[in-house]
Amino acid sequence: MTIKPVEKFSKLTKDEKIAWLAKHYFKNSEQGIQLLQTYWHSDAKLQNLHDEFIENTMTNFYMPYGIAPNFLINDQLYAIPMVIEESSVVAAAARSAKFWLTRGGFKTKVLSKVKNGQVHFIYRGDVAKLHQYFETVKPKLIADVESITLKMKKRGGGVLDVTLVDKTSDLANYFQLSATFDTRDAMGANFINSCLEQFAKTFRESAQTFDLFTVEERDVQIVMSILSNYVPDCLVRAEVSCLISELNEDATLAPEDYAQKFLQAVKIAEIEPYRAVTHNKGVMNGVDAVVLATGNDFRAIEAGVHAFAAREGRYKSLTHAEVEGNNFRFWIEIPLSLGTVGGLTQLHPLVKMSHEILDNPNAEQLMTLVAVAGLAQNFAAINALITSGIQKGHMKMHLLNMLNQFNANEAEKVQIIEYFKHHIVSFSAVETQLIQIREANILNIN
Ligand code: MEV
Repeated sequence: MTIKPVEKFSKLTKDEKIAWLAKHYFKNSEQGIQLLQTYWHSDAKLQNLHDEFIENTMTNFYMPYGIAPNFLINDQLYAIPMVIEESSVVAAAARSAKFWLTRGGFKTKVLSKVKNGQVHFIYRGDVAKLHQYFETVKPKLIADVESITLKMKKRGGGVLDVTLVDKTSDLANYFQLSATFDTRDAMGANFINSCLEQFAKTFRESAQTFDLFTVEERDVQIVMSILSNYVPDCLVRAEVSCLISELNEDATLAPEDYAQKFLQAVKIAEIEPYRAVTHNKGVMNGVDAVVLATGNDFRAIEAGVHAFAAREGRYKSLTHAEVEGNNFRFWIEIPLSLGTVGGLTQLHPLVKMSHEILDNPNAEQLMTLVAVAGLAQNFAAINALITSGIQKGHMKMHLLNMLNQFNANEAEKVQIIEYFKHHIVSFSAVETQLIQIREANILNIN
């Protein structure tokens, strides 16, 4: 069947949209519709809330919501909520937390918390005159966003500064109004974008009456006004440290050898982009999971973090390690623009619960908790990589997924999990084991 473009899809009712989808895209309409409905919430009000988060909602897409307990962070104990589909991530975080619990825990520091955005514009005139114009109009730029910034100022935030940036060496006639912001506990995207759009309007309109400009110079062309998700000045550090002798949980490596191997693994990620990307992916397993659980924008975080990792012209590790005397230290510095008010934070019941579990952190505290989750995840990954290898733990955690794929019943699961406590997990080994158990059960019945 050839499918024709659909008109005004968003105006259809939810049932009509589903019927359309089923008619054109499902092999078995009834089954498909039933599957979508299975994931609807039984509480119509709650379902409606989810329906209205986005356009054209058909159903809900479940993700596991787990807890990694025992995180000692700045001497306070946390249970960290994580939303993630990868089987080993929560277990790895919990293992890291437990390891550092008895070694002083995690220490954190917010290094800076400045966000930014730009009005990108084209100006084809005398650059000296543009600078003069900017100095003249700057107070008006700030004054004209007064109504937008009023509430934010009351909370101690607002516009920090606006500067004129000449980018003409990179692109002909390209300039920016580059602004910095303090958005307190909000992620602040709407606030920043509203300010920037007003800056653009004022900047363009006031140019019409600036005496020194010629008629052509008055024609400032605004290309776009948008916040940047690159936030190198919204930076947090999390770290752990202990005596080398305390790195003593691996039976195959002496603490000194463990420390050296760990250092090498981090150094490799600092100099080798192929490794750095995977290394940082492991960091983001922890970061994204907490960002999602707390209702923040993980795409913004991802984009900003990876740009930061490449800020020196080569993609590098986000974490670092050193040995000084008898001491081992491992830390992360990561840009995280997060909010604890606004957005989904008060709207999504589970997001609200995550904030409660975390003792209702402010934005700075949430930055530290997310950074810790990233560091813990990276510690667990490196620990596995330099000792048993990653597959042992990973496949063990994946075992239940495989058993579910083979439709194993509860009794079979118990038997197989017990068996693989002492054997290496692989897809074929699980299948073989399951076949054996099933054959033995048939024999027993007969
Ligand atoms: C898997 O999701 C993440 C790791 O590959 C990270 C790493 O290699 O450091 C285990």
